[in-house]
Amino acid sequence: MTNSDFTGFRLTTAIHQEVSVSWQSPSNIALVKYWGKTGQQLPVNPSLSMTLSKAYTQTKLTALPRATEGEIELDFWFEGSQNPAFGHRISNFLQSVTQIFPWLVQVNLKIESQNTFPHSAGIASSASAFSALALCLCSLDADLFGILHVENELRTKASYIARLGSGSACRSLFPGFAVWGATKALSGSSNLFAVSVAETHPVFETLCDTIILVNKKEKLISSSEGHKRMIGHPFAQARVKQAKKNTADLLEALKIGDKQTFIRIVENEAFTLHSLMMTSDQGFMLMLPETVRIIARIQELRQETGLDICFTLDAGPNVHLLYFKEQFEQVNKLIVEDLVKNDKQNMLIYDSFGFGPVKVG
Ligand code: PMV
Repeated sequence: MTNSDFTGFRLTTAIHQEVSVSWQSPSNIALVKYWGKTGQQLPVNPSLSMTLSKAYTQTKLTALPRATEGEIELDFWFEGSQNPAFGHRISNFLQSVTQIFPWLVQVNLKIESQNTFPHSAGIASSASAFSALALCLCSLDADLFGILHVENELRTKASYIARLGSGSACRSLFPGFAVWGATKALSGSSNLFAVSVAETHPVFETLCDTIILVNKKEKLISSSEGHKRMIGHPFAQARVKQAKKNTADLLEALKIGDKQTFIRIVENEAFTLHSLMMTSDQGFMLMLPETVRIIARIQELRQETGLDICFTLDAGPNVHLLYFKEQFEQVNKLIVEDLVKNDKQNMLIYDSFGFGPVKVG
């Protein structure tokens, strides 16, 4: 599929009554990290993620009759209140996809959105938000023009649209594991949209992700700024090579059920992401002392107990502790009695392998 496969239709007559659709779509955690972009939201390296289950956004998109066409007209509501800051970002995004959905400037739009997790809590809220919105756009488009999508086509188109809002969002459309970025290791993979990883050993469907919130504040350096700092990074070429190899090796590990390779690659990717931040021109650090304490302790606990635990980090200080469901009791004991102790600053969100978005209206 190419960019031109995604251009759409205008309404020939105005709509007379409101039409709406609702989707819920999950966040995802990158195991091989997307870091650095080029062109129109294209990744410089392939990435591989696990779709989460409990952390999701629910979005309702309504198109209302409008007398004359013009700019995007959006009434944006987040968790029951009008939110001009988010609304502005969403309006800009909608404006950027008017070639794909020309009808967007022929109707008035209302978006009502809510998350099951605290905003800016170190969970990729843009991934769930943009994937939910992309699905609403594709569904409403299909309803308005009587288009019948096969499920996979809808996911692929929504993945393409979600990518334009936030790169990592394009991976949230799929159950389980998804790859975004062209790689020889997975046929059908593309820079334009993510694809599902079909061959996964059942043991990886039991993965759990407990997020240890070290700091809930908005981060000082956004992901967009972080991506920019990969331009001209002294390690850029080596990073692309490493990400390609990690993607290929992780795909193989997922296929054959190799937990030890999984652990090695996932931690290598988390360390690499944060090293790239620190070693960029105008280096910056998003880990906090508490982050370092927790990840060092996770590595020690793995040695001491032999449990299959590992960590990953997003672009922030919060720690994702990954483990397998059959070891939940032992791991949870370690989490509450050792890793977070009585520190009330720490908060826990228990999430796990998820099955992808659901249409709810
Ligand atoms: O999708 P963005 O632009 O918010 O970038 C996400 C970057 C990371 O979360 C650090 C890695 C990833 O692949 O999700």
